[in-house]
Amino acid sequence: MRGIQGKITVVTGGTRGIGKGIAKRFLEEGATVIIIGGKNQADADQAIAELSPLGKIEAMMVDLSNADAIEKLIDDVVAKYGRIDILVNNAGIQIRKWATEFPVEEFDKVINVNMRAYYLASRCAARYMQKQGGGSIVCISSGNSQCFTSQRSAYNISKAAVNGLVASLGVEWARFNIRINAVAPGYVMTEMIQKGINEGIIDIENIMKVIPMKRLLMPEEIGNSVVFLASDEASGITGQTLFTDGGWSKAGLPEEKEL
Ligand SMILES: NC(=O)c1ccc[n+]([C@@H]2O[C@H](COP(=O)([O-])OP(=O)(O)OC[C@H]3O[C@@H](n4cnc5c(N)ncnc54)[C@H](O)[C@@H]3O)[C@@H](O)[C@H]2O)c1
Repeated sequence: MRGIQGKITVVTGGTRGIGKGIAKRFLEEGATVIIIGGKNQADADQAIAELSPLGKIEAMMVDLSNADAIEKLIDDVVAKYGRIDILVNNAGIQIRKWATEFPVEEFDKVINVNMRAYYLASRCAARYMQKQGGGSIVCISSGNSQCFTSQRSAYNISKAAVNGLVASLGVEWARFNIRINAVAPGYVMTEMIQKGINEGIIDIENIMKVIPMKRLLMPEEIGNSVVFLASDEASGITGQTLFTDGGWSKAGLPEEKEL
């Protein structure tokens, strides 16, 4: 993919799951990758052990719900590497409760990690990218920005806001040669999902009914979309959300029988 080799690339939530798949794809394309984890040092150590044979990578632990910590993170990356070329806002959390019962503090937590942190990290990075002459930002949205399920109101709202965030900042920052887009994954086979299936918490048969491709995607397939949008191959694209979901967001009623 053109324009990824040697690029200083930050992937938030890159210590596991989809973020780890994204980090892997950037390393394979020759980027220098900084993965950001929250509190789980064991996940970060595991990711570094797995991914370091592929290229130059390090982990930093930062609480992205803290606005000052986000600013410091981007400053630290630029102080160490001299620039920031690509930012992938991927870290996200999910809390499931009825909207009528959703505690305000938990609503704020979801919005802060899933949306406010994306906005703050993007603008901190954009200040440097503007001086550098450009850059590329990709935010991880969700199929839940368009297909909604009950008891996930804070998550759904945060992800719909991510699509609006990239559209808004895409328009504002095009003049600085900074592109910002989103990738909206459908159901992805991560360690967490696998655990849920094994424990019977996730009803995989029910999920398959709404996915035209009839399979979960792999984290690297989300990584492929992210690398594409970050690369020079996507030089004409900004403000867009690319649904990478096996067709889920375009499907109507599940097909229950072959006609
Ligand atoms: N797994 C799916 O099927 C799926 C589908 C659609 C969208 N997504 C989105 O993809 C992204 C990654 O999801 P995942 O399933 O890989 O999640 P995950 O729970 O496996 O990983 C989340 C990552 O975010 C980090 N993180 C969480 N809170 C943080 C905080 N306060 N500060 C710093 N880091 C923090 C964690 O350390 C971890 O690295 C999320 O934005 C999620 O909403 C996932």
